[in-house]
Amino acid sequence: MAEEKEVVIKIENLVKEFGGRRVLDGINLEIYKGESFVIMGGSGCGKSTILRHIIGGLRPDSGKVYLFGEDISTAGDDKMDGFKKRFGMLFQSSALFDSLTVEENISLPLREHTKLDEHIIKIMVKMKLELVGLHGFGHLYPSQLSGGMKKRVGLARAIALDPEIIFYDEPSAGLDPVVTAVIDKLIVDLSEKLSITSVIVTHDMNSVFRIADRIAMLHKGKVLEIGTKEEIQNSKNEYVKQFITGSPDGPIGFFKPDENYLQELTK
Ligand SMILES: Nc1ncnc2c1ncn2[C@@H]1O[C@H](COP(=O)(O)OP(=O)(O)O)[C@@H](O)[C@H]1O
Ligand SMILES: [Mg+2]
Repeated sequence: MAEEKEVVIKIENLVKEFGGRRVLDGINLEIYKGESFVIMGGSGCGKSTILRHIIGGLRPDSGKVYLFGEDISTAGDDKMDGFKKRFGMLFQSSALFDSLTVEENISLPLREHTKLDEHIIKIMVKMKLELVGLHGFGHLYPSQLSGGMKKRVGLARAIALDPEIIFYDEPSAGLDPVVTAVIDKLIVDLSEKLSITSVIVTHDMNSVFRIADRIAMLHKGKVLEIGTKEEIQNSKNEYVKQFITGSPDGPIGFFKPDENYLQELTK
């Protein structure tokens, strides 16, 4: 019998427009507890916008977003604050405070969301540093760290409150291929060690196939295909095939101005 899967995130017909331009055009997807789910697609296709809806930063124009079974598209601030303790987020830029040490950066969520004593916070921060391979680096400032180490600190902060879900927005942005591989391995290790659900947004194909259990391919605000890593690797969809091979030839075109627009330009 097939294993019953628990859905932790469900998106139904999500539509979002900015300034009359439809950026998300009816997104549907389900993410299961404990899996590593990758949202992949080209720049500007709406990946970060989906994440921002799931973490409550944006409200849908229409459609629903369920987190832990509850509709958050209409949830108030109090309810959203409760959810925020249950997920961590690693931002594209790592988003560390330069004036705070590594240790102070990681302890921020613990100070903000718990009433734990200072010495307990110190112990918890040490544990997180250990988990991301930064034992002994707590006293340093972000400016003293490499890009890969900053990501690790961001990750330690994202897991400070022992979240059930971690969201990663382009975790390999700005990193060289080797450091990217190391961070990808850390993402996989953490998800296994902590039995955490991971949602990763990326356009880096090497990362996609290293990290993903399942993948959604996004194009122009629509989900083109959702499947396991193997299903996506063997996809018959021309868009998916072009994207994963990085081919210049295929249906994913560059912006081609139409006649009216060209006339506008030459006026
Ligand atoms: N707050 C906003 N206001 C206006 N346009 C936005 C806003 N956020 C995103 N966009 C636009 O929506 C599109 C999708 O953005 P985004 O989700 O960041 O893409 P991705 O993360 O896939 O690169 C882009 O064209 C972007 O310029
Ligand atoms: Mg983005």
